[in-house]
Amino acid sequence: MNTLIRNGTVVTATSTTQADVLILGELIAKVAPAIPENAADRIIDATGMYVIPGGIDPHTHLDMPFGGTTSADDFETGTRAAAFGGTTSIVDFAIQARGTRMRDALDTWWKKAERRACIDFGLHMIVTDLGTSGLEDMDDMVNEGVASFKLFMAYPNVLMVDDGTIFKALSQTAKNGALICMHAENGSVIDVIIARALAEGKTAPIYHALTRPPRAEAEAVHRAIAMSEIAGAPVYIVHLSSEDALNEVREARDRGVPAFAETCPQYLLLSVDELARPNFEGAKYVFTPPLRPKEHQPKLWEGLKHDHLQVVSTDHCPFCFADQKILGKDDFTKIPNGGPGIENRLQLIYHHGVNAGKLSLNRFVELTSTTPARIFGMYPKKGEIAPGSDADLVVWDPNAMHTISAKTHHMRVDYSMFEGYEVRGNARTVLSRGEVIVDNGQFLGKPGRGNYLKRAARGGAWK
Ligand code: URP
Ligand code: ZN
Ligand code: ZN
Repeated sequence: MNTLIRNGTVVTATSTTQADVLILGELIAKVAPAIPENAADRIIDATGMYVIPGGIDPHTHLDMPFGGTTSADDFETGTRAAAFGGTTSIVDFAIQARGTRMRDALDTWWKKAERRACIDFGLHMIVTDLGTSGLEDMDDMVNEGVASFKLFMAYPNVLMVDDGTIFKALSQTAKNGALICMHAENGSVIDVIIARALAEGKTAPIYHALTRPPRAEAEAVHRAIAMSEIAGAPVYIVHLSSEDALNEVREARDRGVPAFAETCPQYLLLSVDELARPNFEGAKYVFTPPLRPKEHQPKLWEGLKHDHLQVVSTDHCPFCFADQKILGKDDFTKIPNGGPGIENRLQLIYHHGVNAGKLSLNRFVELTSTTPARIFGMYPKKGEIAPGSDADLVVWDPNAMHTISAKTHHMRVDYSMFEGYEVRGNARTVLSRGEVIVDNGQFLGKPGRGNYLKRAARGGAWK
């Protein structure tokens, strides 16, 4: 079916224009004023609406084993929820189990996603072990479109790798053009602080935050960037949470280093105070890095505005309060780390960024769609409104009022981190490769329609 989106304001990272968008099959064919109605079989009237590129969330954890349980959304429920919020592509994380080949993990995650994903999806590979074949495996992954790898500087004995491994991986990406994504927290120091807290009987959720100081994040960011410079490779810091860490990224970028970073809505809008909620409710806000004192929030917004931070992702990693978060009732270290958010990213960043005058409309599109597409090797197929790009489009109603709540959200999790938050601005109609998958609160897509995104390694063209 061919579709014409008429009378809308087309907003990209670089322009805002009154234009119609003609979609032929899965692709955008034309963007121009006054395209005749007879050019298409179906007309979508976007009067008073913005037409923006579908959101790209480059940091999600669907169906992921972690902390003795598995994240509550699978590829069906998670990608459906994403679509409701205007996100049309995700990049999720496959995990290499120690002592196994990365291809085994890739096969496992393809199986999790196929027949379930409702929107297009790519995969990063979490590297836990380079062994004897790891560097070869990384090249193999790049050939399969896994153009990025995540390494952990935290979680000793679980996911953490040593600096030698990080340096070897960075050096490999200097050759194969992939990107290293870093979970930057000093895990060894944090483990000592945690052991001391537990020895003093400090077991409540708040100690999750108090045992992971901002300096432990900043130190790891500094080290990660220094190693990337020695290796001659770019680096991307995931879920950056603090002013301290941001300063490290900004300082490096000011020197011309290809260091990139994302933050997430929770770090922009929530503070460490959430972890002190009574009745164990603080566990709903246990994820890493932890929430920070609220003084960090304006610094992160400024970072987004001035391009010290390039991307807003969600780090969607949902665990139900009733039967998963509760695993840590008597010991905060046993609370599964992660929080839900895949559905609310655009609403929150639009309302608290654009409506609040902190971000321009174009910057909003850049942070939530275009730059993730560029950094993760999907541009201009994704993240753009131009002839030849995939028709992943959102008809965005800037005046729609919405109250975020677990009672109405589509994520398979029994709480919302943003319960009761009122936002103005929401996705009205969502198209994925030309197909309307959400319209006026109705899901019209199908599980399994999402395609695997074979992403390109950028070969060093990062700036
Ligand atoms: O607590 C978090 N962030 N859980 C997901 C895993 C990760 O480190 O991104
Ligand atoms: Zn992480
Ligand atoms: Zn994550």
